[in-house]
This record gives sequence, structure tokens and C-alpha cells, in this order.
Amino acid sequence: MDGVIYLDYNATTPLEPEVVESIQDALKSAWGNPSSSHHAGKSAKALIDQARENVARMLGAKSSDIVFTSGGTEADNMILQTAVEYFHKVCTKSRTPSRDHAKPLPHIISSHMEHPAVNVMLQHLQDTSQAEISYVPLCKVTGRLEVKDVLAAIRSNTIMVTVMLANNETGIIQPVKEINDAIKALTRHPGETERIFVHTDAAQAIGKIPVDVHELGVDYLTVVGHKVRLVFARLLYLTENTGMIAGLGKACELVTKNLAMYQQQMEECRDYLETKLHETFPGQLHFNGKLPGSTRLPNTCNVSILGDKLQGHNVLARCQRLQASVGAACHAQNRPSSILLATGIPESIARNALRLSLGRSTTKADVDIVIEDLHQAVLALNNS
Ligand SMILES: Cc1ncc(COP(=O)(O)O)c(C=O)c1O
Repeated sequence: MDGVIYLDYNATTPLEPEVVESIQDALKSAWGNPSSSHHAGKSAKALIDQARENVARMLGAKSSDIVFTSGGTEADNMILQTAVEYFHKVCTKSRTPSRDHAKPLPHIISSHMEHPAVNVMLQHLQDTSQAEISYVPLCKVTGRLEVKDVLAAIRSNTIMVTVMLANNETGIIQPVKEINDAIKALTRHPGETERIFVHTDAAQAIGKIPVDVHELGVDYLTVVGHKVRLVFARLLYLTENTGMIAGLGKACELVTKNLAMYQQQMEECRDYLETKLHETFPGQLHFNGKLPGSTRLPNTCNVSILGDKLQGHNVLARCQRLQASVGAACHAQNRPSSILLATGIPESIARNALRLSLGRSTTKADVDIVIEDLHQAVLALNNS
């Protein structure tokens, strides 16, 4: 749309032209069923294999480790359900039945900041008595899930810890490597679940910071195509969606090639935005993701402009060109964000939050327009 400045890249992103092109090419030239042994099938299979390699290279993984799904929600759901199934198949065999013959349940550790793709499934597993869930509180100083608190939540039946790599609202990067290292160093005793799997939803981190599965050491990692100018990839039983997978592969290739440039560009513009905000609203700001002892994604600025009438949704409604959000797209827009509250941000400040998330193509000129827009919106609200 002409004249609009889109700063909601953490919700979703437009596709890169190269990605659109690779999807179109795949739809035209590789329409065969990749499981068929004739030429059309082999062309589709070759494209999927290439895409799989591109995804693996971006993550430092083996291509045989990559499973395509319809999107992040399916991937997160599948991983949690797999952990529950694994517990029932493998772990319960080695356990002594309890006196009341109750079936032992797997235990999963998570946090209150997870995306609904994780926490709705966790709630379902708990409500249907398929699993016990512990939610470890975020540290109110750092906004992170701290390793010692995760370790304190471990029980003899813990089968999985699931923690997102970077938060979608605050941009705060979570200590997933440290959590994984601490868990892998635990000695499990007889009668305890032998292994604890670690899963991280890296939807918000890919394309913004380096993500390497070996470095993190995790057992499962979720990538969400549409967050990083990639697209969904899909595995429907045995028939893969070649076009979407080809697009995902191209997008991963671009990330592998250009990540350092993307990162620097976004960070420069985000820092410029924050400097301009300070100049325009001196003494009236609270940065909700800038907490001591934690680092943020380079593209995310979660800020509250302080004032009785300046609730985030009111400010955005008065903006003429800025398109952003007050928090995650999948949460209610007119209530203070539960993630900010869990991070220790007081309710009166959380109500005013604006999540401004920049993309690779955001420029300083775009930022100037956004600042002007916010300025006029705040004046209008204060005078209303
Ligand atoms: C952190 C995170 N996980 C999972 C998802 C869900 O991904 P999808 O929209 O592909 O189902 C999203 C997207 O909003 C997300 O931000």
C-alpha cells in the first residue's frame, strides 16, 4: 500500500522477489508428485532435496534432520505430542507402576511467554490429563527464563523443556544454549525419565540473529517460514508441497548469504528509531524490552509512550501511516500484553506498549515518517 510504513515484521513479512520467483518456477516446472519415479516426479524431488539442504545449511544441521510441516503451529504441536508419545512408549516401560495403578504422566516445562502454538497445546495436554505442565516464571530483572529456575522445576518424569529462542513481543533472546547445556549435564537416576528433550521455537530469531543447532545443542527447533520472508513448507503425509518448499529453500539461502548485512541494517535503523523517539518524547518513554542482563533481537523495539490517554491501540488508531501492533498478532489487542506483565512491566505501562518491528527494507526515511506520525497521534490524543 502506498504511503504506509509497515513495522510489524514480527507478525509476518512480505516475500522477497527471489522467493516469489522460485515458487512460481517450481509450480511451472516441478509440478510432479515428488514420490513418483518418472521425470516430473524426479524434478519435484530434486527441488525439495535442494530446499532441504538450504534449510539445513542455514541452521548448521544435516538435511536428513529437516521435517517440513504446514507451518510453525503444526511443527510445535507435533514436537510436543511426540514427546508425550515417547514417554508412554519408552519411559513408562522402565518404571515401577504406582500403588494406585495410575498411569504415570510425562512432565513438560515451559514459560508464560510462549506463542499459542506451544501454550495452547500445553494447556490441551494438561486439560486432557495427558501431561503435567510447569510454567517457570520469567525473571523480572532480565525478562528471561533463567537456567536455575528451569533446573528447579525438573521432576523425575520431566520429558521436555520448551523455550522460545527470542520473544516475539520484547525481542529478548532467551538463554536456550545455557538451559540445554545444564539439562544435558544432569545425571538421571534409576526411576527417572532417562532423557529430557529440549525444544526451542526459533520463529522470531531466524533471519535476525545467527541460529546454529549444534551451537544451541537442542533436540528440536521450529522455523516459521513467513516470519523471515520465507514461506510455509508443507509435508502432508507423503505428498510434499513442492512450490512452498522451494520458496522456503530460496529464503534460507538468502539468510545464509546475507544474515550479517540484514542484522546490521535492522539494528542501525532500530537504534535510529529509539534515538528519534527519545528526542521527540523526552522523559515520556519506557522501553519494555531493554532490560539489564539481556540482549534483544536487532529489529524489535517495544516501547510505551507514557500518558493517561496513550494506550497502544489508541495511538495506533490515530496513526495515518504507521502499521504496527501492540503485541503478538495472536493475542487480544486491547488488553495489556500478558508477556509484558510476566516480564514485570507494570500494567499502566504495558497498556501503552507499541511493538515496532523493523524489516530488512526499513529505512531511516521510513523511521522519520513513523516519528512524525506518532508525534501527531500523541498530540491529538493528549488534546482530546
Ligand atoms: C514464535 C512463534 N511460533 C509459532 C508461530 C506460528 O507459526 P504459524 O503461523 O506458521 O503457524 C508464530 C507465528 O505467529 C510465532 O511467532
